[in-house]
Amino acid sequence: MLTIPEDTRQLFVSADRFRIRQVIVNLIVNSVKYGKIAGETKIRFYDVGDTVLIEIADNGIGISKKHLPRLFERFYRVDKGRSREQGGTGLGLAIVKHIIEAHNQTIEVMSTEDVGTVFSFMLKKG
Ligand SMILES: Nc1ncnc2c1ncn2[C@@H]1O[C@H](COP(=O)(O)OP(=O)(O)OP(=O)(O)O)[C@@H](O)[C@H]1O
Ligand SMILES: [Mg+2]
Repeated sequence: MLTIPEDTRQLFVSADRFRIRQVIVNLIVNSVKYGKIAGETKIRFYDVGDTVLIEIADNGIGISKKHLPRLFERFYRVDKGRSREQGGTGLGLAIVKHIIEAHNQTIEVMSTEDVGTVFSFMLKKG
């Protein structure tokens, strides 16, 4: 389920719109692929001074601590048996990291197995 909040204020950022779209699409697709049936994905935007904090959160299968340090490496995939969906290349998060770093920012992940995962990054306001 995609939750669209009531607050529809617009926030403007200085970024490459096509690349940032690619980031958000990648993270949303992952949240569905590694989510639970009838799970939820929440996309939140926080107004933080001269930046906007963007979070893509799911309540899916989560990622165990031992995988987190290598998660953004090219072709790195977690134990395939746990996800509903197979056959990814393991490139998605490497591309996400590359794009965010090209915006002089960092991509963060917080995850708990069987609870869910939150990816977050910031962008400078436009
Ligand atoms: N939201 C998430 N919840 C649980 N595991 C995740 C999530 N996002 C990514 N992962 C794990 O991290 C691995 C790497 O993700 P990444 O997007 O780089 O590759 P992929 O989805 O397997 O393939 P691709 O994105 O290239 O189709 C995934 O294989 C999956 O195991
Ligand atoms: Mg992916």
